[in-house]
Amino acid sequence: MELTGEQLKMAENQLKRYLPRSQQVYGYLVLRNRVRSDPVRVFVDRWPEFNVIVCKPQYEQKGDLFKDIPVFATDQAILEDIITKSNVLDWTQFICIGINLRHMEILKAVASEKGVSSSQLAVCHMMILKDVSNLPSIDSPGISLSYLDESHVGLVNQMWKFAKNKEAVRMIRNMLANFPSCSVLDAEGKPVSWILTYASCAMGILYTLPEHRGKGYANVLISTMAKRLHAQGYPVYCFIEEENETSYKLFKNLGFTQDPSHREAWFGFND
Ligand SMILES: CC(C)(COP(=O)(O)OP(=O)(O)OC[C@H]1O[C@@H](n2cnc3c(N)ncnc32)[C@H](O)[C@@H]1OP(=O)(O)O)[C@@H](O)C(=O)NCCC(=O)NCCS
Repeated sequence: MELTGEQLKMAENQLKRYLPRSQQVYGYLVLRNRVRSDPVRVFVDRWPEFNVIVCKPQYEQKGDLFKDIPVFATDQAILEDIITKSNVLDWTQFICIGINLRHMEILKAVASEKGVSSSQLAVCHMMILKDVSNLPSIDSPGISLSYLDESHVGLVNQMWKFAKNKEAVRMIRNMLANFPSCSVLDAEGKPVSWILTYASCAMGILYTLPEHRGKGYANVLISTMAKRLHAQGYPVYCFIEEENETSYKLFKNLGFTQDPSHREAWFGFND
């Protein structure tokens, strides 16, 4: 069934019980319940005690297919049943699902039964900052901070590794138009380093232009954004690809921690 109005707020509270494993869908609902952005429909297997919850962005144009579908499940058998039998997922088009890695085999098996190709797009550490008080001061003389707006969609899309050859523009535009972002500007006022917020409230798409690396910009941006999100009552967390050691160390040094047994993964179907 689809959740609406008050149910979406109740679902947010229910997901708190399963933190940190429910972090991605929890963060998604926290933002969805407070900020008007591109439309999302939220489905559960039953109500009010749900076992599976699926946040499904509405697809209006081809580029929307890039928006991922976060799923949280407390019961693997019910998850399998839902994705096999219900029509909550449209297996005829490209879909990208973000979910706990331990559900990977089930997803792959269902896809193969349906004759749909599947690929693992990313496996990530989920890093959470519980205490923002130890973040370094963001009083950084000589660093000019700003935010990004829709005029920067092309720049962000061009530099984001997952957008290569893909139409991620509409997803990035939604992020820039509706969710917090932060950037470092050069002397001409051009962004040289930036960080955005995903629809799941996770910080991400962190990037520093190669010629500006090692100047402490990423440190400043993460600290600034973390303090801002925390002050607004949002969870402070991010996903780091397992192989991105530089980034992992960067966030770890700033106090982000993870449950080492948990990995969040993204799978693409019909790619
Ligand atoms: C990761 C990235 C954002 C770092 O940006 P940056 O502005 O150079 O980072 P900073 O100057 O603030 O450095 C942060 C820390 O990382 C370390 N670091 C930065 N680049 C590094 C490298 N190539 N190798 C090892 N350490 C590195 C710095 O020494 C610093 O450590 P410290 O805090 O202990 O001094 C940048 O390398 C980048 O854009 N990489 C490609 C995209 C990417 O991986 N994004 C992250 C996705 S989660």
